[in-house]
Amino acid sequence: MARLDVTETFHGITFPGHLHTQDSLQSALRFPFQDTDILIVSYPKSGTTWMQEIVTLICNRGDPHVCQTVPNWTRAPWLEQHYCAMVLEKYPLNPRVITTHLPQHLLEPALQGSKAKVIYVSRNPKDVVVSYYHFCKMAKFFPDPGSFQDFLNQFLDGRCELMKSWQNFFFFNLKVTLALQSIKSLHFCGKISAFLQRPLVEEELNSCLKHSSFSSMKNNTMVNCTLISPEIMDHSKGCFMRKGELGNWKSLFTDEQNQHFESVFSSRMQDCSLKFVWDV
Ligand code: A3P
Repeated sequence: MARLDVTETFHGITFPGHLHTQDSLQSALRFPFQDTDILIVSYPKSGTTWMQEIVTLICNRGDPHVCQTVPNWTRAPWLEQHYCAMVLEKYPLNPRVITTHLPQHLLEPALQGSKAKVIYVSRNPKDVVVSYYHFCKMAKFFPDPGSFQDFLNQFLDGRCELMKSWQNFFFFNLKVTLALQSIKSLHFCGKISAFLQRPLVEEELNSCLKHSSFSSMKNNTMVNCTLISPEIMDHSKGCFMRKGELGNWKSLFTDEQNQHFESVFSSRMQDCSLKFVWDV
């Protein structure tokens, strides 16, 4: 199957062109946020889909009906993708849940003065790069990632600094470092529901936890990407809900790659205030 070799470069960041146009990217910067909006922000492969599921469940008091019947790209569309405005108009939800991978400096003007609630999701960059590598193998809208060594070099050369973009962001916000496995607690869902000012009783929180578990989401066609056609996502190359493990980077990193990563990371990310969890 051929790769969809189209990309859009916007403010120095490369986006897969079949979903992003210059118009859609420009519109994202002028997006009229409403005070009731919930914005999920992340670097790709940090647990974005998981947070979309948790937020949807919280907004529905733990009832999984919406999660199980509406695809995540409809109930929490990506701001920078060309269908976002159409989806928000056609499927009005209250509150609106919107997702983005755009860095803070690009969205700051649109968010200025808004009371939209921002949840920034981060994950340790070693797990991110491994997850991203596997994803690029199956996602036809990314160039062939080549060897893991090549992919790691590209990540360390250019992309990794975007991860600290939202570290100093302002006003209504919650920073969540997804340690994957280790956050499966009522306390975690409770913290998010409190931040969203949607307090839930224990039974509802338990339901949120159950339906946002890795096994539930792996079987949920509304989030596991199996609805996406093989021309766009080559399902023979892997699963979107791949491992969901903390410390999975050890399955691919050699000792040498790890040492190189540590040295680049400590010099380029020394001003990063995010606290990552690297291991179980
Ligand atoms: P892996 O590839 O390491 O398995 P994103 O949604 O930002 O693209 O992130 C995808 C990553 O989050 C994948 O990581 C995926 O398995 C993981 N993930 C998604 N839902 C999860 C869940 N409920 N529990 C644990 N990991 C989850």
